[in-house]
Amino acid sequence: MSIKTITITGAAGQIGYQLAFRIASGQLLGTGEKMNLKLLEIPIALDALNGVAMELDDCAFPSLETITATDNASVAFQDCDYAFLVGAKPRGPGMERSDLLIENAGIFSIQGNAINKCANRNIKVLVVGNPANTNALITMSNAPDIDPKSFSAMMRLDHNRALAQLAEKTDSHVTSIKKLTVWGNHSTTQYPDIHHATINDKQAIDLVSLDWMKNTFIPNVQNRGAKIIQARGLSSAASAASAAIDHVRNWAFGSSDNDWISMAIPSDGSYGISEGIIFSFPVRCEKGDYEIISRLEMNKYSEDCLKISEAELLEERKAVEHLL
Ligand code: NAD
Ligand code: LMR
Repeated sequence: MSIKTITITGAAGQIGYQLAFRIASGQLLGTGEKMNLKLLEIPIALDALNGVAMELDDCAFPSLETITATDNASVAFQDCDYAFLVGAKPRGPGMERSDLLIENAGIFSIQGNAINKCANRNIKVLVVGNPANTNALITMSNAPDIDPKSFSAMMRLDHNRALAQLAEKTDSHVTSIKKLTVWGNHSTTQYPDIHHATINDKQAIDLVSLDWMKNTFIPNVQNRGAKIIQARGLSSAASAASAAIDHVRNWAFGSSDNDWISMAIPSDGSYGISEGIIFSFPVRCEKGDYEIISRLEMNKYSEDCLKISEAELLEERKAVEHLL
C-alpha cells in the first residue's frame, strides 16, 4: 500500500488547524491508509506551525507517518498527491471576496510553479483561499505540465449550505436531498439551483414557492459567508474544513450514483460557459476522475444566473492576466 502525501498550506490558520487534524485522523483517506503530512506557512507563522505539528504528534494518530512543517513551497509540494491550498488572507466585515484578489493572487502563481516542479503528476489540487475560483485558475496556469483537470476550487461549502437551507425549509433531512447544484463563482453571484433537485424522490421545486427560492433561499446561500463573518468576527473555518474534506474525498473515491456534487473546475464550454475560467458545475466522480452532468434542462432564469457569474469570473481573470 503506497503512503499518500498530503499538503496543507496556511496550516497554522483557522481552517488549517481544523483540516490538519481531521485529515490526520483518517477522515479523508480512511483510517487504514498511511500518509505523510506537509504543512506550509509563511516565515512569521512558523512558530505557530511548529505548535500545530507538536499537537499532531501528541494525537498519536495511527495513520500519520511523517509531518513536515516548512515555509518552502518546493519542500511542501514534493511528491504531493493531494494539495489543500488554504493559505491566503481572509476577508473582513464589509468586504467582497474579490477584494482579496490582488493581495492573494501572487501566492497562487508561486505555489502553481512549485506544484509543477515537485508534485506527483497525478496530484489533485483544491483551492480554498479566496477568491477561490480565480486563485485556482492562477495555480493551474502556473503548472502547465500538470493536467488542468487536477485543479479545482471549493464550492462544496456553498453546496452544503444550500442542502441545509433546503432541508430546514422542507422539514427534511439533508441526506434525502439529491441533485442540487451550486453553479458559478464562490461569490455572491453563485447560483444555488434547485430545479433538478429531489427530496425523497419528489421535485424540490414543487415543495417550495418560487418567491422563497428567489428571494430567500438564493440570497441566503449567496450571503452565508458574510453572515458567519458578522456573527463570529472571523470567516467560516470548521465548516470550510469539513467541505474541503467532502470535496477531495468524493473526487478521489467517488460520489453517489444517484446524486451529484458541485465542484469548481476548468470550464470545457459546457452549458455555454467560456472555456478558460474555473466555474462550478454539477459533477459525478468515479475512480479519481469527475465528469460534468450534461444536458440538464435550463430555463431562462437559470441561464441568466449562470451568465452573471460567468461575467464576474471573466472580469476577475482580466484583473490577473499578468499572472496567467
Ligand atoms: P487565516 O488567516 O486564519 O489563515 C490563513 C493562513 O494562511 C495564515 O496562517 C497565514 O499565515 C497563511 N498564509 C498566508 N500566506 C501564505 C502563503 N503564501 N503560504 C502559506 N501560508 C500562507 O484564514 P482562514 O480563515 O484559515 O482562511 C483562509 C482562506 O480561506 C481565506 O482566503 C478565506 O477567505 C478562505 N475561505 C474560503 C472558503 C471557500 O469556501 N472557498 C471558505 C472559508 C474560507
Ligand atoms: C465563506 O464562504 O465562508 C468563505 O468564502 C469566507 C468568506 O469570506 O465568506
